Amino acid sequence: MHPMLTIAKRAAEEAGRVIQQGYRQLEQIQAQEKSPGDFVSIVDQQAERAIKAVLHDKYPTHTIIGEESGETQGKPNKGGDDYQWIIDPLDGTANFLHGIAQFAVSIALMKNGRLEVGLVYDPINDELFTAARGQGAQLNGRRIRTNAQRDPARSIIGTGFPFKNPELMDQQVRYVGALLQEFSDLRRLGSAALDLCYVACGRLDAFYEMALNPWDIAAGILIAQEAGVIVTDLKEGHEMLDHGDVVCANPYLHKVLAATIKANTITETT
Ligand code: IPD
Ligand code: CA
Ligand code: CA
Repeated sequence: MHPMLTIAKRAAEEAGRVIQQGYRQLEQIQAQEKSPGDFVSIVDQQAERAIKAVLHDKYPTHTIIGEESGETQGKPNKGGDDYQWIIDPLDGTANFLHGIAQFAVSIALMKNGRLEVGLVYDPINDELFTAARGQGAQLNGRRIRTNAQRDPARSIIGTGFPFKNPELMDQQVRYVGALLQEFSDLRRLGSAALDLCYVACGRLDAFYEMALNPWDIAAGILIAQEAGVIVTDLKEGHEMLDHGDVVCANPYLHKVLAATIKANTITETT
């Protein structure tokens, strides 16, 4: 395993313990609403602290960007390389708080602006998705590949609703209407990090979502790409981390999905 992935795994396991313990006593967990529908709990904060402590201890010069505590700026590295960890301590907080067991820890590392390693850990099912650039993707140490489904009528797409960006809701409703005519069915599972991993291992046939944050998707993007998934933004470019949009599937379904999205994108003149 890539040495930095080994450290990320240790950090994710620490966070996983915090999350499992919190999940066993959910009735005692209090949550605050950061913005309408966007919650944070003490578990998110403690899990992030646990991850940061492990990473900082091993790599004191690396920058760490965490959803809950923002950026801890690193120092210039001896070799001149720039390392940036991007972490979401609990992706799927709404599920967690509702007792729905679909959430995960997400940890990505960028080296000189490129995704280098990615890890998504589901502590309830004890599923660890990992990838290192150029070295493939694994689920609990076993190589994974996306599926080869070519028929949209037999395919299930994952998505999410942009509740933090209500101005995008009409657009999403339009996409959903169009996609349901072409694809078999749709799921809103509630953790973008796991959605990407589910496409990577072939459970979902495709996934798209708008207006996400880098910590939701950075690790999952690398895991998906290393499993043979085509990942783009809504315009079929590769600025997913800048725009926060992802459209992903195997090469056959990606074409259909991207074309349907393009045909149903609301422009000012529509
Ligand atoms: C959320 C999840 C969800 C997505 C939201 C994200 P959080 O992350 O990834 O699937 O639809 O937009 O914010 O807030 O639970 O870390
Ligand atoms: Ca998230
Ligand atoms: Ca989160």
